[in-house]
Amino acid sequence: MDRYLVFGHPVRHSKSPFIHTLFARQTQQELEYGLAEPAIDEFAQALRTFFDQGGKGCNVTVPFKEQAFTLVDCLSPRAKRAGAVNTIKLTDDGVLLGDNTDGAGLVADLKSHGVTLADSRILLLGAGGAARGALAPLLAELPSELVIANRTHAKAQQLAAEFCDLGHVTAQTYEQLAGSFDLVINSTSASLQGELPPLAPALIHTDIAIYDMMYGASDTAFISLAKQHGARQTMDGLGMLVEQAAEAFTVWRGIRPGTKQVLRELKRNLGVI
Ligand code: ATR
Repeated sequence: MDRYLVFGHPVRHSKSPFIHTLFARQTQQELEYGLAEPAIDEFAQALRTFFDQGGKGCNVTVPFKEQAFTLVDCLSPRAKRAGAVNTIKLTDDGVLLGDNTDGAGLVADLKSHGVTLADSRILLLGAGGAARGALAPLLAELPSELVIANRTHAKAQQLAAEFCDLGHVTAQTYEQLAGSFDLVINSTSASLQGELPPLAPALIHTDIAIYDMMYGASDTAFISLAKQHGARQTMDGLGMLVEQAAEAFTVWRGIRPGTKQVLRELKRNLGVI
């Protein structure tokens, strides 16, 4: 049977086996999908061993995405732009192809929530790997402006400069932010430390949509804040998780699974509904 897995550390909490097993059942694909948690300095070896032993493809999550970028034979254009790889496929020619489906997953989830990106004014909080992965797919939707704000302003400036060929993208400090945004996307890892990005609550208005790439069994701190201030629409990253997985599944198997039912099952599994 074709073998797939997700590499991460820690990875025991990963929902990817759950999601991909449902995709496989739905599309009647014969495959198995497992977990691998190599020691931090043993990822390269573990990856080689997996493919030497007949593995067909894998997902890569924190903290190995940047390392995976350097280990594959060939990169998709979107992985090159993201500077990170979350999906690897062994092609029929024996080439390890590195791809990145995170940004596509975000955009697909935003669209499934009915969010309009074209001509919108988007604020992206954070300038780490998650923000980098999201930029090209977001700019491809032709927003009127995309502003990056980050605690370390220099990193936001660097990202804006790197992506300015793809659209109207600028960097501002949190203090400089002004005017009305249509959509705010939180890509920071602040909530992992139980913190909030320093966004002035006055920027959250009743016609704004808020997306937090994080998710949990209950509202993230950022979503709670957005609700308190009357945001029209709030979304967490669970849908992005399922959509990036669907995109990876499509890369591997050439068949696109439906996501709605799987997302519902995942929510049930997490106790969210
Ligand atoms: P990831 O790959 O998940 O994006 P990362 O590369 O470590 O992770 O980036 C984390 C992002 O969250 C960074 O933009 C970080 O800001 P700095 O560049 O200033 O470090 C941001 N971040 C983390 N904790 C934060 C906090 N408490 N407030 C605001 N931003 C925070």
